[in-house]
Amino acid sequence: MRKLENSVAVVTGSGRGIGRELAFLLAKEGAKVVVNDLDPDAAAETQATIVAMGACASAFPRSVTSLNFAEELAEFTKETFGDVHIIVNNAGYVWNEPVHRTTDEQWEAMQAIHLTAPFRIIRAFHPLLRERVDAERTEGKLASRRIVNVASIAATRGTAGQVAYSSAKAGLFGLTRSLAKEWGSMNITVNCVAFGLVDTRLTATTEDGTGVIKIEGEKRRVGFLPNQRDALIRSIPLARAASAEEAAGGAFIFCLPEASYITGQCIEVAGGIAY
Ligand SMILES: NC(=O)c1ccc[n+]([C@@H]2O[C@H](COP(=O)([O-])OP(=O)(O)OC[C@H]3O[C@@H](n4cnc5c(N)ncnc54)[C@H](O)[C@@H]3O)[C@@H](O)[C@H]2O)c1
Repeated sequence: MRKLENSVAVVTGSGRGIGRELAFLLAKEGAKVVVNDLDPDAAAETQATIVAMGACASAFPRSVTSLNFAEELAEFTKETFGDVHIIVNNAGYVWNEPVHRTTDEQWEAMQAIHLTAPFRIIRAFHPLLRERVDAERTEGKLASRRIVNVASIAATRGTAGQVAYSSAKAGLFGLTRSLAKEWGSMNITVNCVAFGLVDTRLTATTEDGTGVIKIEGEKRRVGFLPNQRDALIRSIPLARAASAEEAAGGAFIFCLPEASYITGQCIEVAGGIAY
């Protein structure tokens, strides 16, 4: 029997990068996955890949910051799979600028995606969680459930040019530790992973440092100049970036049955980075 057989997992931002790899890891262990992404094509591709591997997935392609997103995601999950065991708040992007050039719009966009959306998603799932936990208690077999929030070393250590991003990610530490105390009695663990340098489109190197992604039709500069990336790698004891799959592994371990007694923890998955 696979380790997550009969579990239902929701992974935001799982159309690409770390979220997609995590969705694959969860599906391989038998979880049914709700694939969310801003980009419908990316979400559909992750879903199709999971189905092709003989597992079960359903796509919910919408922005986590859109109106009523959280309530509709919870409703969709309940109608599609009837339960939820794992919620991973992973969707995100960077919008970097030195503090003196950070606009209110930029600050609010970073808070909205990295802190407000996870809070609203968690809150919206409460009715379903409460219902399932009460039913399982009555049956005398309470399941172990998991919430994993995705943060960054920008929050644990600070990164110049990322004040808005790192502040929002740091908020996840408080959310994680407090929620672990509130929901422990429902047998729900709440943990946080702070990734370091992971090879995804957010960290791609370009000669002029001008990688660009589109978020809701707007262009956002991402990526590194080669010398910036080299300097960062010199501060990593493992001397390399993580693959998206390796990073996903750091979040995945919190979802496994063996991690049922770990809660309220914020760990770096960053190759031992020290700067
Ligand atoms: N790559 C890194 O080095 C790194 C380091 C630290 C933390 N992180 C965090 O890891 C998470 C995943 O990043 P990644 O590197 O895999 O990036 P990625 O761009 O490869 O994947 C992120 C996915 O999230 C989706 N997304 C973005 N905004 C969304 C929204 N509003 N609603 C729904 N989906 C949305 C994107 O479309 C994309 O498919 C993010 O929270 C990021 O901040 C990444």
